[in-house]
Amino acid sequence: MVLVMGATGTVGREVVKELAARGAPVRALVRSLEKAAMFDGLDVEIVQGDLEDAASVAAALSGVGHFFLLTANPPNQVDLERRLLAAADAAGVEHIVKLGVSNASDDHEVNFFRWHREIERRIEESGIGWTHIQPNNFFQNTLFQVDSIREQGAFYGPFGDGLVASVDVRDIAAVSAIALTEPGHMGSALELTGPAALSHVEMASTLSNALEREISYVNVSLEDFHAGLLDQGRPQYFADGLTTLYGQLAAGGQSRVTGTIEEVTGRPARSFAEFAADYAPAFAT
Ligand SMILES: NC(=O)c1ccc[n+]([C@@H]2O[C@H](COP(=O)([O-])OP(=O)(O)OC[C@H]3O[C@@H](n4cnc5c(N)ncnc54)[C@H](OP(=O)(O)O)[C@@H]3O)[C@@H](O)[C@H]2O)c1
Repeated sequence: MVLVMGATGTVGREVVKELAARGAPVRALVRSLEKAAMFDGLDVEIVQGDLEDAASVAAALSGVGHFFLLTANPPNQVDLERRLLAAADAAGVEHIVKLGVSNASDDHEVNFFRWHREIERRIEESGIGWTHIQPNNFFQNTLFQVDSIREQGAFYGPFGDGLVASVDVRDIAAVSAIALTEPGHMGSALELTGPAALSHVEMASTLSNALEREISYVNVSLEDFHAGLLDQGRPQYFADGLTTLYGQLAAGGQSRVTGTIEEVTGRPARSFAEFAADYAPAFAT
């Protein structure tokens, strides 16, 4: 049995769908049964629980061999994932596939990059089999700006002309599902990027072609971006981490392209043009 955490989120829902399509026995841990309706018609076992509730986590892990571990950067991420690791160990899990980030390190400037690396190390030391999934920035982050793309024909960011090797979440899910169900990826760190490093101006041009109308990328300063996050009610640690990260993206810090998706899945990583064409209805006015 494979257990997927964060199953209703951006990555988790695609991992669940990939596993179900492969006919793998899959259990999805969800907070909301209403949201779990997205899996209607798929052969998926749904369990309701909360990652902060040890009893529900233990119940979800019962009989699980392979565990997809994902949390969404809460301020207690290290402590939470440490508890999830201990629960997996107690349940006899054989293999943890952890969703982290590319270029995580102990001394990274971005808080949640350090947190991801700390948990990866704890997993490596746990004696449980492991595979690290280390994706770059997601194409799907553009969906956060669907309203401004629809209403203003514009999306915003502090990326300047920095090149970013962003990746399609559906490819992250495909690699994760293979790692969870096929041999050969134990003890591997899989750094996942799209097929090219693109500027946000290039992304705007690709979106314009797919949507058949002009979409502009509007650059904002890092200071204004940070202030905007706080205005939206995002917590300080998150605003600080994301602003530092996006400053690094602007400086080309996440521009390395890898061939890992093709190596693992046997087909090329999806391009931003493919993403734009597939998601065009979501951006339509
Ligand atoms: N965005 C990027 O460009 C990027 C790039 C590389 C790596 N990452 C990493 O990706 C991860 C985030 O993945 P994502 O984008 O898929 O996250 P997401 O869309 O925010 O989804 C988070 C999932 O976790 C669930 N969840 C949150 N708190 C929970 C709790 N207490 N109990 C049970 N479930 C809980 C949410 O459930 P609900 O649906 O009920 O809220 C949701 O299913 C982070 O670790 C981040 O560092 C992101």
